[in-house]
Amino acid sequence: MSDLIIKPARCLKGEINLPGDKSISHRALLISGLAEGVSLIDGLQDGEDCRSTLRALLSLGVEVKKEGTRVSVDGRGPTGFREVRQGIDCGNSGTTMRLLSGIAAGLPFATRLTGDDSLRNRPMRRVAEPLRQMGAKISAREGDFPPLAITGSPLSGIRYRMPMASAQVKSCLLLAGLLAEGSTTIIEPALSRDHTERMLTYFGVSLKTNTTPKCSATLSESPVKISSPHGGENKGEGDNTISILGGQRLSGRRLKIPGDFSAAAFFLAAAAIVPESEIFIRGVGLNLTRIAFLDILKKMGARISIENQREENGEPIGDIVVKGGGELKGITVSGSLIPNLIDEIPILAVVALFAKGLTEVKDAGELRVKESDRIKAIVTELRKMGAEIEEREDGFLISGPQRLKGAGVGSHFDHRIAMSLAVAGLAAAGETTIKNPECIAISFPDFVPTLFRIIKQ
Ligand code: S3P
Repeated sequence: MSDLIIKPARCLKGEINLPGDKSISHRALLISGLAEGVSLIDGLQDGEDCRSTLRALLSLGVEVKKEGTRVSVDGRGPTGFREVRQGIDCGNSGTTMRLLSGIAAGLPFATRLTGDDSLRNRPMRRVAEPLRQMGAKISAREGDFPPLAITGSPLSGIRYRMPMASAQVKSCLLLAGLLAEGSTTIIEPALSRDHTERMLTYFGVSLKTNTTPKCSATLSESPVKISSPHGGENKGEGDNTISILGGQRLSGRRLKIPGDFSAAAFFLAAAAIVPESEIFIRGVGLNLTRIAFLDILKKMGARISIENQREENGEPIGDIVVKGGGELKGITVSGSLIPNLIDEIPILAVVALFAKGLTEVKDAGELRVKESDRIKAIVTELRKMGAEIEEREDGFLISGPQRLKGAGVGSHFDHRIAMSLAVAGLAAAGETTIKNPECIAISFPDFVPTLFRIIKQ
């Protein structure tokens, strides 16, 4: 793909069609594969990452039929999986590799998982270590990195306190726990996205939880009660415990994937920083463990409203209207909120440049081990556009408002960096050229045409 050229926008107006939620799509495929019977999935994400999961499932012998974003998975339960002799390529997808590790650990054969240059440099000890405690045999390059060689073994449940809040690690262990003997209990330092818990519940699994979803100011104004996935009783901060009993059977289901909030985030940000914009986004996933960015934007002064809140297949959804022209002010974001906006932090940096006062992001060191080192990547590229940003080990500090100028910037082969820079380009003076933008297809293949359709110059 050639460079992506972004010109300043006078305003953005129109309705956006979102891709299906990436996190939920991965889970829908894998959990349908573990279930018995046919699952029918509507609105599956068609990005490269979810294609990696779909290919992995096919190579493991699960029958999957795909027509556009509609997919049927003929699950035969865990015993329906077959050995893949040549190994599985997870592409760029950390979610594919980490969730699949949990399943592979409990299957009665060996599986080799690898990926692209980025994925082969992402830490896997975080899943290998607890899986070994459950009885799995796993080796990793230099003890931490892919390829992973997993020899499936009989697993036993463990009680595991996770060192970091990570939905990928938690989900890996929940899936391994399902294949293990006895009960597996996972304790998270802060609640990460709970899509796996919700989907397992939807497929008939019983889980025990004591979790503390972050309260969302945006949603608490609403008359609709947004349920927690399985009626978990709230205890205190830091007490996020989930238990799963192994050997439970899942049955095939019909489900509809909500629009991806993390994809919507780029348009929320764009409308917030380009005056006179007005965007309508239908059917967005509004899971409380995902949408801290929505609250943060509102607290910063963005004009956002939510309509038509409802719940589908155990996940809350709604429509979002966002208007430009709000006076934005800086904000501090840290602590247990970070996992609930981890993928939106690069785009938050862009919004912060247009907000009055200080914006500080702390406790977000996990960003350094994503598809790229996202702290370094966004700071480096926004500086090329004239931004002044202080880079911190676990975040950044921005004093706004600042003026950006169009420049030649690079994506670092990271979809969220490329899309964040495109949004920055809309509100910069002059033209912005983004190199290596093809990575956008990892999570939002139609991002560029969608954006170009609503730009008014
Ligand atoms: C994801 C969890 C997050 C997130 C990633 C998707 C998931 O990663 O950054 O884009 O689908 O579980 P971590 O679990 O590493 O925090």
